[in-house]
Amino acid sequence: MSDVVLRLSGIVKSFPGVLANDHVDFTLKRGEVHALLGENGAGKTTLMNIAYGIYKPDEGDIYVDNRRVKITSPHRAMEYGIGMIQQHFSLVPSFSVAENITLGLKEFGIFPKMESVKKKIESLSQKFGLDVSADSHIWQLSVGEQQRVEILKLLYMNARIMILDEPTAILTPQETENLFKTIREMVKNGASVIFISHKLKEVLKISDRITVMRHGRMLDTIPTSVADERILARKMVGRDVLLKVSKKPSSPGREILEVENLWSRGDKGQYAIRGVDLKVRSGEILGIAGVEGNGQRELAESIYGLRRYTGRVVIDGEDMLPLDVTSRIRRGVAYIPQDRKGLALCGGLPIYYNFFLKVFDSPNFSFNPYMFNPSYLRRGAEQMVKDYSISTPSVDLEAKYLSGGNMQKVVLAREISGSPKLIIAVHPTRGLDVGAMEFIYKSLLRERNKGVAILLIAGDLEEIFTLSDRVGVLYEGEIVGYSKPDESHIEEIGLMMAGVGSIDA
Ligand SMILES: Nc1ncnc2c1ncn2[C@@H]1O[C@H](COP(=O)(O)OP(=O)(O)O)[C@@H](O)[C@H]1O
Ligand SMILES: [Mg+2]
Repeated sequence: MSDVVLRLSGIVKSFPGVLANDHVDFTLKRGEVHALLGENGAGKTTLMNIAYGIYKPDEGDIYVDNRRVKITSPHRAMEYGIGMIQQHFSLVPSFSVAENITLGLKEFGIFPKMESVKKKIESLSQKFGLDVSADSHIWQLSVGEQQRVEILKLLYMNARIMILDEPTAILTPQETENLFKTIREMVKNGASVIFISHKLKEVLKISDRITVMRHGRMLDTIPTSVADERILARKMVGRDVLLKVSKKPSSPGREILEVENLWSRGDKGQYAIRGVDLKVRSGEILGIAGVEGNGQRELAESIYGLRRYTGRVVIDGEDMLPLDVTSRIRRGVAYIPQDRKGLALCGGLPIYYNFFLKVFDSPNFSFNPYMFNPSYLRRGAEQMVKDYSISTPSVDLEAKYLSGGNMQKVVLAREISGSPKLIIAVHPTRGLDVGAMEFIYKSLLRERNKGVAILLIAGDLEEIFTLSDRVGVLYEGEIVGYSKPDESHIEEIGLMMAGVGSIDA
């Protein structure tokens, strides 16, 4: 066992109402990339926060180099050579790269010798292909660059055990490639890496071993050499799943959505959408790819009428500007928002209420006491639960108790049952297990085949490729170009996502 650098044994951690880690065992060998794979909520971050001293486990032990240790803080973790890059960074925007890297390091005292620090940073940056300048200020950097600063920080501190929590979620395909090169270089230099992800392809590409977690439990650890996507998907979900959804060629009809010179501001007041033009026709799916934070949310909300804008949003020939959300819903706009708990569902209301949230004020309901009859609503809801295979003990259950996948099915069922002309779907499968994902994909394709126009805004390129008939790339609030949605165009799309691509339509 001398090659084991980190061992977590019998880790238990519960939060109110959730057993996030249920007797988890995990070992990291010297010089390996060990992937930790599992759907959102599986308990990956919790386990790693325990190894990094952020959470205290309820039970279980941690061994570093076969010695039992108590890791009571990130600072203590660092003393054992454990470093972690969290999903949300902890850099100070107004400080320079060098200042951020030395921040909190004891040996520097109050006046670090900046010149030698900078030299070391530049040389590490070069050696590991990070391309970061010590003098840049954090606020000037893209999220990808900020991540590289976090990596530099770990390298600077000589971390030997590097935990990367979903590092690729915010990266373009090229940035992901570069990250993988850096990881390989780190391993060559003696580091061991824990790579957290829920993406099968990435895990297969970068890791030596894979541990799969499901519902707080450690399911299995296997060498990557014997794994493939099907095996991993089955372990993650607990049953066989189809990974490819077949799609027949689209036969687009009339124009349903036309957006012209759309401008809209983000929550901080800056322009988040800067002159977007796009068209979606009946029976087609237009995918909008892009790194998160480039205006995705603002685009969807403007079209749906939740956010003020200037420019034109035309739906089926009618300018929507004077119309509020309700009127847009009445004209056949359906919305699957990014934030299903906050915006799409009322967690405290029973499931059957949630199905009818959008139609309560329709003449059918407001003049017809029979239709308000709960048993009538329940019956309708029960049918939807059946049609959409929503797993719940009863339609009276409060929506907040549903799992993510089942919540999303409720949203989907409600939105589709209104027979929309246009569906705006934002990250529709984020956080869902592969089984639920497959279901959502099939449902959206079925609607498209029936002639619904679908605007799909998603961060995951695989999702875009699976569903879209065309793909546009959103970068800093503009559609910077269009491409064909398949793997062979991934480089072109990636470049556009980074803002350096072509402008061809
Ligand atoms: N600080 C916390 N308080 C309460 N519940 C939490 C907290 N952190 C995580 N959880 C819950 O623990 C479970 C596992 O979460 P997490 O470890 O973040 O999963 P993963 O990283 O695999 O997506 C989830 O159900 C999550 O809601
Ligand atoms: Mg996590």
